[in-house]
Amino acid sequence: MKLVVAITGASGAVLGVRLLQELESHEVALVVTEAGEQVMRYELGDPELVYSSRFAPHDLTAPIASSSYPVDAMVVIPCTMKTLAAIAHGYTNDLVSRAADNALRMGRRLVLVPRETPLSLAAIENMRAARLAGAVILPPVMAYYFAPHSVDDMTNFVVGKVLDTLGIPHHLYRQWTGPHEEQGE
Ligand SMILES: Cc1cc2nc3c(=O)[nH]c(=O)nc-3n(C[C@H](O)[C@H](O)[C@H](O)COP(=O)(O)O)c2cc1C
Repeated sequence: MKLVVAITGASGAVLGVRLLQELESHEVALVVTEAGEQVMRYELGDPELVYSSRFAPHDLTAPIASSSYPVDAMVVIPCTMKTLAAIAHGYTNDLVSRAADNALRMGRRLVLVPRETPLSLAAIENMRAARLAGAVILPPVMAYYFAPHSVDDMTNFVVGKVLDTLGIPHHLYRQWTGPHEEQGE
């Protein structure tokens, strides 16, 4: 697949880094916002990022700034409330919001992983608007039925959910197949 991955300045940079690792065999154009860089450095130091091409967040001449550039899907992970607002309202003042707008205009898969808690009414309404426009809203919300033991398990669960929406097979978390497995039936 040909994908755009954007990492913005919300907590959870590890989610973006982990997704990039999982997409190693795909063609990935990466954009990291300035705040995304800062939070990533704070949370992870200087992680190795896997990507095919990378564009500066204000480079509106990048190929992915144009809807004519063919892309299968885009993921904003993690997604700040600021970038969510921009995408929800078509305020395309940087490359992330512009590429996301292209995805919505072209009817391509757009997955947003918004991280904030608690949520403001504005954020809730922006999620609603983005969903109505066609985006998948996938907050990094945990499940406990697969008995996670570590932060890594939790990260893999969320990234696995993102891959599910892209139709990319993975073994990042144990999918629910019913209670019979646990009972040894
Ligand atoms: C350590 C740190 C953590 C942050 N976490 C969040 C967060 O979880 N969600 C969020 O919406 N903003 C968060 N912010 C604020 C955003 O980084 C800020 O609003 C920024 O302007 C977003 O810009 P961007 O969307 O271009 O990346 C955080 C900032 C810092 C410094």
